[in-house]
Parts: sequence; C-alpha cells; structure tokens
Amino acid sequence: MKESPFLLQWQTWLRCDDKSVFISSQAVTVRLVNPVEIEMFEIKRICCIGAGYVGGPTCSVIAQMCPEITVTVVDVNETRIKAWNSDTLPIYEPGLKEVVESCRGKNLFFSTDIPSAIKDADLVFISVSHAVSACVNTPTKTYGMGKGRAADLKFIESCARQIVEVSDGYKIVTEKSTVPVRAAESIRRIFDANTKPSLNLQVLSNPEFLAEGTAVRDLKEPDRVLIGGDETPEGQRAIRALCAVYEHWVPKSRIITTNTWSSELSKLAANAFLAQRISSINSISALCEATGADVEEVAKAIGMDQRIGSKFLKASVGFGGSCFQKDVLNLVYLCEALNLPEVASYWQQVIDMNEYQRRRFACRIIDCLFNTVTGKKIALLGFSFKKDTGDTRESSSIYISKYLMDEGAKLFIYDPKVLKQQIIYDLSQPSISEDNPERVSELVTITSDPYEACQSAHALVICTEWDMFRELDYEKIYKKMLKPAFIFDGRRVLDHLHAELQSIGFQIETIGKKVTSARIPYTPAIVGSRTASTEPPTKKAKA
Ligand SMILES: NC(=O)c1ccc[n+]([C@@H]2O[C@H](COP(=O)([O-])OP(=O)(O)OC[C@H]3O[C@@H](n4cnc5c(N)ncnc54)[C@H](O)[C@@H]3O)[C@@H](O)[C@H]2O)c1
Repeated sequence: MKESPFLLQWQTWLRCDDKSVFISSQAVTVRLVNPVEIEMFEIKRICCIGAGYVGGPTCSVIAQMCPEITVTVVDVNETRIKAWNSDTLPIYEPGLKEVVESCRGKNLFFSTDIPSAIKDADLVFISVSHAVSACVNTPTKTYGMGKGRAADLKFIESCARQIVEVSDGYKIVTEKSTVPVRAAESIRRIFDANTKPSLNLQVLSNPEFLAEGTAVRDLKEPDRVLIGGDETPEGQRAIRALCAVYEHWVPKSRIITTNTWSSELSKLAANAFLAQRISSINSISALCEATGADVEEVAKAIGMDQRIGSKFLKASVGFGGSCFQKDVLNLVYLCEALNLPEVASYWQQVIDMNEYQRRRFACRIIDCLFNTVTGKKIALLGFSFKKDTGDTRESSSIYISKYLMDEGAKLFIYDPKVLKQQIIYDLSQPSISEDNPERVSELVTITSDPYEACQSAHALVICTEWDMFRELDYEKIYKKMLKPAFIFDGRRVLDHLHAELQSIGFQIETIGKKVTSARIPYTPAIVGSRTASTEPPTKKAKA
C-alpha cells in the first residue's frame, strides 16, 4: 500500500515503544486515538503576523520568558516596524520598552520580510486587525452584507493565503486576533484547498485577553491562557506544543484548553460581559443624576457582594477601545445570522447604552453652558480611550468632540500620549466630520500643555482618567478660565477635590452624581474675554 507523505510524517511522531518501525495507515488511525503516543513537538521559532497592540507586546513577553525561542514579529507597515526597531516604540505601554530592549536583537526581531519569517517558523500567530493604510479604523465591515457589525476577515484571510503559499512541512497556525466563531474553520478550508504534499498546517485558537495600559502585567501574570484546538490527536499535539511555550512562566492551572469553537466564542463573550458591566453601571449613573444617589456609592455597595464583585463597575463617559464595540457587534451579527434575534437585541443594548451615555454627557455640557456652545472655547483633556495608552480607537473623546463640534464649539485638546496627527486624523473621519472635514482645522487646536488648553476656556472636560489630571494646579486653571468656570468630569478623577474645587469657584458636573454647589460666585472676568466687554467699565478705563 502506498503511504501518503502526510501519513509518513505521522509515523515519525509516533513514539516507537516497540521495535516495529513500519506502521500501516490503519495502525496509524488506531494508535493516534491515544495522544500519549504522539511525540511532543517543540516550538523553537515563532513568527507573529501583525506588530500592533497585541502582536508587539505579546511576542516581546514570549521572547523575554523563553530565551531559547526565536521570535520574529512581522508587519506590512514599514513605519511601524521601523519604530519597533528604534528607541521610540510605536505604542505606549508601561514597562514595554524595558521588555523589548532586554531581548531585541537577541531572540526578538521585527521585520517586514513576512514570507521568510513564516517559512522559518514552527508556530505562526495571526495577530492582525486592520491594515493601517486602510481608511477604516476598525475591522468591522464597512460595506456590503453585515455592514457595521460583521467582522471583516479579509486581513485574516490574506494571512492564511500567504501562510499556505510560502509554507512547507509542519506548522502550527494560531489565531491570536479576536475572530467570529468558526473563523478557524475558514482558515482551515483555505489551507485544505491550497495544500501541497509536504504540508501539514494545524490551526489553533489562542485569543489574547490583555488590556491596553496593563498589557505587560497582563501578559506576565495572565488570569488565564486559553488554547482551543481540534479534538483529534493532531490537534491535541499542537495544543500541547503551544501549552509548553506558556508553561515557561504561566502556572499550568491557568492554561485552559478547549475545542476551537469554545475558545473563539469565549473571547467574544468575555468582551461582551465586560462591556455589559460598563453599560450597566452607566445606566445606573443616569438614574443617580436624576435622583441624588451617587453611582460610586452604589457601585461600592453592590460590588461588595461577592457574586457581583467590585471590578469594572466604574461609571464613565462610555467605553472605547478597538475591541469592545466591534466584538459585541460581531456577537450581535452572529446571533442574527443564527436566527437568535432576542439574543442579538439583548447584546445590541450594550452598544446603545454606551452611545446614549456619550450623547447624554455632551448634552449636559451644552445645557450647563447656557444651552449653547457655539463659538465657545472648551478645553478637552484626554483623547486616548483610557489612561496609560496612546490608542484612540473608538475613544469616547472622539464622540464627545464630534457632538461639541456639531454645535460649533472650539476645542482645545490635550493628551499626554496621543500625537497631534492622530487626533486630527480621528476627528477628520467622515463619520465624525460628516461632509465638512475643514471644520476640524476651524474648530480644533491641539495643545502640548493642559494649562494652555484652559486659557480663556468656558469649560474643562475630562474624557480620559490620566493620573496627571488629578494633580493639576486648579487654582492656576481657574484664573485662566472664563467665569463661571465649569469642570465636566467624565471619569470621576476629581472626586477627592470637589470641596476644594468648589471653594476655588468651579462649577462641577460629573458622571452619576449631582454635585450641589452654592450660587455661582461673582468673579470679575479676565481681560480680553468675551464677557469682559459686557462688564461695566472700570473707572480707569473711563478715564
Ligand atoms: N488591542 C487590544 O487591546 C486587544 C486585546 C485583545 C485582543 N485584541 C485583538 O487582537 C487583534 C489585533 O489587535 P491590535 O490592537 O494589535 O491591532 P493593530 O491594528 O494594533 O495591529 C494589527 C497590525 O496588523 C498589521 N497587518 C494587517 N494585515 C496584515 C497582513 N496581511 N500582514 C502583515 N501585517 C498585517 C497592521 O499593519 C497592524 O500593524 C484584533 O483582532 C483585536 O481584536 C486586541
């Protein structure tokens, strides 16, 4: 009987605990049922396609924890790769620079030579979301069927095609990207339809749970590592090989293995649950503002119930980031496609509540500023979607800016980590600036100093919880602002300062609490301000 190369390769994985060397195809089928009989495959070279917020930190930590494994991170984006090879990394994450510098050039490499890195690798991670050159800022489809909700898998598909084209022999291909359930199946079908005699590609799912801002800590001390694969002996062998990589530093009890679909769905479900908690507490914040309750007190009281837990109960101006919205929308789409409309509309509410919270906050700013912000200067502090990252994808700041620009407000934006070009790019997107991209140059100024942003401003709006915003000199800010001077704290970072800020003279508006304040105190307006011209002229001016 003629053995296929595929089966011959299987023979080499079998532990020859008896003297028999030849194993017939039938014997292979029988013996492979017991995974113990399959020899361990050792991963020595890893390639990661996608040098973004996930691929870069994940592979840097793997390289640091596994000095005997060579890790190459590749990307189509030359600028990004150049930055990874420079002193200024393309992303900001606390502790990341030290990790990269400890192993770059030793067992960690960043390259644009994608085919060579794939060819050399035992394991290929797919960690792409969208091409940076593309005009969309999300991997959710922006066209055709499923527009706005379905995941756009074209980048993952193109990776799969490239892998099968340049590969030979045995390789484990692992989805790190968050993908819709059964994406692994699509990858496998592309492999099967393009296979060659020498090729054996195993597909695993290993979704990443890191959170931006704490990526290095999350990677070094993960709550869990999830690896999904086929329930066949080959699938189990690939899972073992990947487990062995993580076992360098993650306790075995935290490495969970499941079937592929459970792994894919777990990632979507985890993000949906996290987003849902934020929308739930945000919905309560609206009630608090209407009733006089304080959402922080409510969160503390309910979070002390161990069944609920205290984490992720922080009311805010709404969640952002590249993942929550797209993953919940993918889940909604999946439910609709599977004819589960009630489940779909349940999860859709999480998104709707988030949008409501952003709109509600913007409306409050407008209402408090005497029902109009047209031509008024507003200092917006924080543009990243959360602190300790420079990532602005789906940041609530973008939407608050949009609603204020729609009303003709003049925005002076400051963020300690986000580049000026990024802010301008985000606000110039058609969905934000609609049919008038010029309005960004008319209405938006980016400043490199928070005090400068507040000069002659009617209001200061905090959109990101950067620690530095707790420590600003608010006396100095107050003096610079027009009166009455408003603070809109969209992140509850100034709670501990309310009494002090009120005694300075600020009017404070925050999420989920009515900050009662005394009558607006009279303060002479600063010279040259809009209100200055309406003040009674001083004697000196008359003379
Ligand atoms: N950002 C997070 O916090 C986070 C956390 C967990 C999971 N995820 C998931 O991980 C995936 C990646 O997210 P990210 O934030 O790192 O995205 P990212 O946009 O920061 O990085 C993706 C990179 O892939 C590159 N790329 C796209 N197509 C490519 C191709 N064909 N060949 C080579 N490079 C290609 C892009 O140029 C880009 O640099 C997404 O599915 C996301 O949902 C993200």
